[in-house]
Amino acid sequence: MNEAQAGILGPCPRLARYLTFSLTEVSRAGKALQSLCDVADGDKTVVGFGQPLVLGLGGRIGGLRTFPSYAGAAFTVPSTPAALWCWLRGEDRGELLHRSRSIQRAVSPAFGPDSAIDAFQFGASRDLTGYEDGTENPKGKKATKAAIVQGEGEGLDGSSFVAVQQWVHDLDRFDSMPAREQDNTVGRRKKDNKEIADAPPSAHVKRAAQETFEPQAFVVRRSMPWADGARAGLVFVAFGKSLDAFEAQLKRMVGAEDGVTDALFKFTRPISGSYFWCPPVKNGRLDLRALGL
Ligand code: HEM
Repeated sequence: MNEAQAGILGPCPRLARYLTFSLTEVSRAGKALQSLCDVADGDKTVVGFGQPLVLGLGGRIGGLRTFPSYAGAAFTVPSTPAALWCWLRGEDRGELLHRSRSIQRAVSPAFGPDSAIDAFQFGASRDLTGYEDGTENPKGKKATKAAIVQGEGEGLDGSSFVAVQQWVHDLDRFDSMPAREQDNTVGRRKKDNKEIADAPPSAHVKRAAQETFEPQAFVVRRSMPWADGARAGLVFVAFGKSLDAFEAQLKRMVGAEDGVTDALFKFTRPISGSYFWCPPVKNGRLDLRALGL
């Protein structure tokens, strides 16, 4: 029986590290991925494979594709494909660093490191703006239904797709907004997290309201704040049984449907955007059968 990588549906950890890699020696990729399975269990470390890797191995994962890019009035949404993504989940920054090193050793020289982002929890699941993030996440069986592939057969069942974007906040800009404008940007009140019924159509939660899509677009978000010197923001992470729900939400956020742009763009911008397929687990080990490994 295949299971999902446990870290996907588990709670967000206190600390995390996100690593991305590009494929540097495709002929050694298969062996590198087998070594990766010795050090990444799907729980403490969640693993995803991007389109460049899957195609490089001569494989195909139905539904995996390249992240879309958009450019609108005063904003851009970039697409930055990567071959391999690891979400290291933990409690201790030193341990995360050493785990990163052992992952890097396991996949080298087939994969070269592209980025490492240190992330953390702020209070009880808050974005750095102070707003609670994750309130409307589906829970329990609904989370499994939204995020995990089922009914597609061995090797695919238990897998998941993930959209990842690094957003950089202009927190001074956000702080300079009156409290009411901040609340209308998100569509919830910071002080009690209540949804604002008459928020403008540009309010983030009006744009992204999952049950208003046809078909409904539920995802399991596991975003975490990040900071690096003076820069800070959110690593947005959304798992889905396909990439369709995320893509429908993003399309609405950029105003591609009705010309209304998500108010979040007033103070924050994405600097990366990638899609990955997260393989299932079998007998406690990542199951790479769908890639012919
Ligand atoms: C910097 C970027 C972002 C920030 C700070 C942010 C923050 C928030 C906050 C505070 C909420 C309200 C509480 C909740 O239900 O979680 C929310 C809801 C939500 N966000 Fe975001 N978000 C960001 C980007 C995105 C992106 C890129 C997407 C998808 C394309 C997205 C999808 C959603 C969804 C689906 C909801 C729940 C809507 C509902 O069904 O009520 N968010 N977000």
